[in-house]
Amino acid sequence: MCGIVGYIGPNNAQDILISGLSKLEYRGYDSAGIAVGDGACIATRKKAGKLANLTADLEHSPLPGTFGIGHTRWATHGPPNDTNSHPHATENGDIVLVHNGIIENYLELKEGLLERGHQFRSDTDSEVVAHLIEEAYVGNLEEAVRAALAKVRGAYALVVTHKDHREIVAARTVSPLVMGVGEGEMFLASDVPALLNYTRQMVFIQDGDMVILNDDGYRITDMQGHPVQREVETIDWDAEAAEKGGYDAYMQKEIFEQPQALSNTLLGRLHDDQGSVELDIELDPNSFDRIHIVACGTAYYAGMVGKYLLEQLARVPVELDVASEYRYREPVVTDRTLAIAVSQSGETIDTLEGMREAMRGGAQTLGIINAKGSSMTRELDHTLYVHAGPEIGVASTKAYTSMVSAFLLLALWLGQQRGTLSKEEVARLVHEARALPRLISEALSDDRLGRVREVAQKYHQARDYLFLGRGVNNPTAYEGALKLKEISYIHAEAYAAGEMKHGPIALIDEHLPVVVVATESRLLEKTISNVQEVRARGGRVILILSDGDTENVQHAEDVLYVPRCDEMISPIVNAVPMQLLAYYTAETLGKDVDKPRNLAKSVTVE
Ligand code: AGP
Repeated sequence: MCGIVGYIGPNNAQDILISGLSKLEYRGYDSAGIAVGDGACIATRKKAGKLANLTADLEHSPLPGTFGIGHTRWATHGPPNDTNSHPHATENGDIVLVHNGIIENYLELKEGLLERGHQFRSDTDSEVVAHLIEEAYVGNLEEAVRAALAKVRGAYALVVTHKDHREIVAARTVSPLVMGVGEGEMFLASDVPALLNYTRQMVFIQDGDMVILNDDGYRITDMQGHPVQREVETIDWDAEAAEKGGYDAYMQKEIFEQPQALSNTLLGRLHDDQGSVELDIELDPNSFDRIHIVACGTAYYAGMVGKYLLEQLARVPVELDVASEYRYREPVVTDRTLAIAVSQSGETIDTLEGMREAMRGGAQTLGIINAKGSSMTRELDHTLYVHAGPEIGVASTKAYTSMVSAFLLLALWLGQQRGTLSKEEVARLVHEARALPRLISEALSDDRLGRVREVAQKYHQARDYLFLGRGVNNPTAYEGALKLKEISYIHAEAYAAGEMKHGPIALIDEHLPVVVVATESRLLEKTISNVQEVRARGGRVILILSDGDTENVQHAEDVLYVPRCDEMISPIVNAVPMQLLAYYTAETLGKDVDKPRNLAKSVTVE
């Protein structure tokens, strides 16, 4: 969503702000702006469209000064245009601010401000806060911000500065904010990659924190002004890890990072020698008798695989919901419920609010999350981190396979601890799971890449795609459909293969590519009979088959082979051809793979 940067120190603020914003472009945005103070005034420059529009403007007339704030906006209130871009200023231009989040009571606040004579320039909710601060300002910026925020309801990461004060005041509720501690300089950002070129010493600002940055360093308080201590963490991400590293796109790089991501997620927790699983969380395996999985998008499909794995391996009943439905459907939750949030960013507001709903019902909560220090990790009882590293491409790939592997770990661990799996079964699956990094590497071999690219090019002009799967690979079909549609803009939908005859089979004709996951499984025979139903009606079938399956080639127009593996780990391996089919199709169509239209990497507004 929106990206925020702030800087105060001895160096040129404009360069640092623009550099930081460029590292946040992946969050999705439709305008950008900065404000820079030089001690006499604060000058603002902001433009709709890509960051390049702003930098072109600044090349002609740069903004001098050594402190300032910047923003990339993903419109929530008010169309994307120059006026609605951030930073927003008060009428006299003394105070400027940037905001990420939603001010839920902005209309009633705005009415009061208008009645008291305030003039507004924009249609945004954020500008309301600038006027509230102006009203409360009597010489102390920190106190004015505190007083203004006391009237505000909603979600915000807010960064404010004033022409007469060489300081930056920031506050956070729900929307993420991280502070960088440099040598004689201080930084703020929505996300770590914006700061990695300047410092690795970071403080994750928490809900209810307010920070005051100046040339002497920083103070952190609560919203009542009481001092708060926060840990300075050393971030070990290599700056390179957030760059493309020689690939054409972040998404491509992240597809190829999956063997490493899975190694990082799995290998410290799977012990081949003892044939056992060990999780670095304090969860009591016998403290619940039902699981609720709550997530959005690709994370939801990871949770869908999780449901199959948890019920089959740990014999725990699992309910699965998209977060935007769960939080309003009044779920039946008790203190024997374990609610699991699945989220790459740890910031998706619907998922976070879904967890809060579960907590209100007394549930114990667990996050399966990639982003370190994210909001969910600070509110949930437990976090089973996946270690996929920063995922910049909007279309989730390595985080998906890592989150599914985290469910495999959890299901195996619960099966081991609750005795629903024999020691031999646990040892066998531990051994299989430890092979995943190698299996993914094999799935990414050059000959397989070439084959997927051929198939993508052959069908890239299709208007619609259908994806089918059964059992633990039913979610694989849904994830494949989502990957394709979100980056190639081709309509795609997924169905349980056994569901075809209940309606969707009416769609089958020679214009409709049908991708079917038919890898080694106890349901393979039934899946093939579904394939025959499709073929009998002229459907064009693309089969995902296990290496060595030469019998079922006859049922397909095209075949994509994947390494043979145990059914329980196959959703992770089978995700690779799905990702590659989407990537090569979008590449063939010339789409912006990393920043697809209308999408954002992290949806922190409802
Ligand atoms: C997946 O490719 C999409 N980018 C989107 O569906 C994403 O998975 C969803 O918004 C959830 O994000 P999260 O994992 O950060 O919570």
